[in-house]
Parts: sequence; structure tokens; C-alpha cells
Amino acid sequence: MTNEAKPITDKMKGRDWLMTQDWSDDEIELALETADQLKKEFRSGIPTLHLAHKTAFLIFFDKSTRTRNSFEAGMTQLGGHAHFIDSETSQIAHGESPKDMGTILSGYGHGIAIRHDLVPGEGQTYMRDVARWADVPVINMQCDVDHPCQNLADLMTIREEFGKDLRDLKIAVSWAYAPSYVKPMSVPQGLIMLMTRFGMNVTLAHPPEYTLMDEPMKLARENAERSGGQFEVVDNMEDAFADADIVYPKSWGVESLFSNPEQAMKVAQQYKHWICDEAMMARAKKEAIYMHCLPADRGCEVTDAVIDGPQSRVYPEADNRLHTAKALMALTM
Ligand code: CP
Repeated sequence: MTNEAKPITDKMKGRDWLMTQDWSDDEIELALETADQLKKEFRSGIPTLHLAHKTAFLIFFDKSTRTRNSFEAGMTQLGGHAHFIDSETSQIAHGESPKDMGTILSGYGHGIAIRHDLVPGEGQTYMRDVARWADVPVINMQCDVDHPCQNLADLMTIREEFGKDLRDLKIAVSWAYAPSYVKPMSVPQGLIMLMTRFGMNVTLAHPPEYTLMDEPMKLARENAERSGGQFEVVDNMEDAFADADIVYPKSWGVESLFSNPEQAMKVAQQYKHWICDEAMMARAKKEAIYMHCLPADRGCEVTDAVIDGPQSRVYPEADNRLHTAKALMALTM
């Protein structure tokens, strides 16, 4: 085996990664193939110095384990360096504008990645404002609308399990109860937008208060129609799980209550029975896999028996965050 990384194409250099929807099917395929390649090289100890001496700026308006560390470790493994910028301890907290951030950080490095996910109506707009002024690529590390890095890793995990032809596979994207905090809406929204592009049957389940934003719903319907898949919405986890190949139950907040977490939790408490336990898993296909972006509220969103059980793929899924983050940075920066 050669101890040299394969070159990465220049086709996507300079491109932003703000929504999966902004990239064509072929471009998503390229990102996944690049992630596969980088994963193999990482596992084989082959150096992958595609971004030697380059700098990525990671701006966080929210907490993170997987995203921050996959980008930081990934950038090191690509031969560059990532700077962590906390919105609270930078001049963003004093009102520094997206124009300043995009313009100034572009002059210091080669890419900007942003997490801004907790205020509906703000995150995606902020990122597009930064991208307007930046002359380096801007990567969405989770906003109010989409979590494209997570969902690319999810798609990679699903393909590792089921192969590239995903037509007619059923994925259940379900709300689940979580008391820890009001979780963003972007993971389920990202899932329904991305998975409907590959001919999958996507079933979304949620209690009445937990409707998703109009734009992701519209795109999911259009994508399903174009790909020959299906997109349906049900009001209970049981129907969503029936005969599913993949189940992805997780919590998210009521769109109008992100600024009122106490009220949001009161609404959520009505639905404590929305938990993924072994009885719920038994409704899915015998060989179905359980997925979750993490962190999960154990004992509320999911029981230990399921998340630690043989059908769970949460750790390979989290692992793929590294390889997909590296692919996105190596392709665009
Ligand atoms: N799934 C995910 O984005 O994890 P973090 O919030 O820890 O980054």
C-alpha cells in the first residue's frame, strides 16, 4: 500500500456548504466518496495533508462535542489548524457584524465554519450574511434550518449499512421527549430534506405542536417527488416505526417557544411517552438500525437497551462526523 494520500479534486474549491440543498446530487456523491477515502486513509495511518498550513475559523454560538472536535481534529489531520471562536468571548457579543466577521477572518485564513442554531430565523441568515462578505468558503456547522454536516455523516452511515441504492428504504424521523434543553429543529429538517433526495420513504412523526419550518417541508415534498420516494407526516411514533429500516427518534423544540424554555418544557412534558424503547423498536424491521445525532437524553428519548443495543449505530454515526467534516473542508478550502 502506498503511504501517500490520493489528491482531492479542485471542483468544489471556494464553495460554501450552507444547506445540503445547495449542492447537487453529484456534488453530495463527491463529498461522500471523499469522506470514504479520508476514512480509509485515516484508518490506515496514511497522512492526508491536503490543507497544509491553512487555517479554519470555527465560530460557535452554542455548545458542541462532536462538531467542534471533528472540525478541530480534522483540520489538524489535514495539515492545517482550526481556531475556536466563542461568540460570547469575541466581539460578536458586543455586536460585531457578520460583515466584519466574514471580511476580517477571510483575510486571516482559508475557511469559516459557523454554528448558530438556537434562534429560529437567525442562524441561516447570519451565515449567508457572513458568506456574502467572505471570500473564503463558509461551512454550516448547524443553524436553525439545517445541520448539513450531521446529515452528511448520517447519509454516509446509512450507505455503509445498506449500500448506495437507498430507493424504497423507509426512514422514520420522529420527535422524542427530552428534558435537558430545547433542542434545535435543524436535524429533523435536514434529514427530511436530504433523505428524500435518494428515493427513500421518509416518514416524519411529531405531536401537533412540533411542526417543522415551511421551507424544509416544501423541499422535502419536492425532493421526494423528483426522486420517486415518498414523504409523509404522521402524528405518532408507532406508525412511523412500522416496518422501518432506519429509525431516527430525537427531540426538537416548538418553533415559537425557543425564547421561552420554561413554557417549551411544559409542552414537552405532555409527551413523555414518545420514547424509543425495545417495544417501539420491535415495530420496525428486525434488521432496522437506530440512529441519533447525539447527545441523546437517555431514559427519555431512548432507553439504554436500545441505544446500547445491537441495532444502534450511534457511534459509527458520530465517528463519520470526523470523515465528513474533513471531506467538506478538504474539498472547499
Ligand atoms: N450531533 C452534534 O452536532 O453534536 P454536537 O452538538 O456535540 O456538536
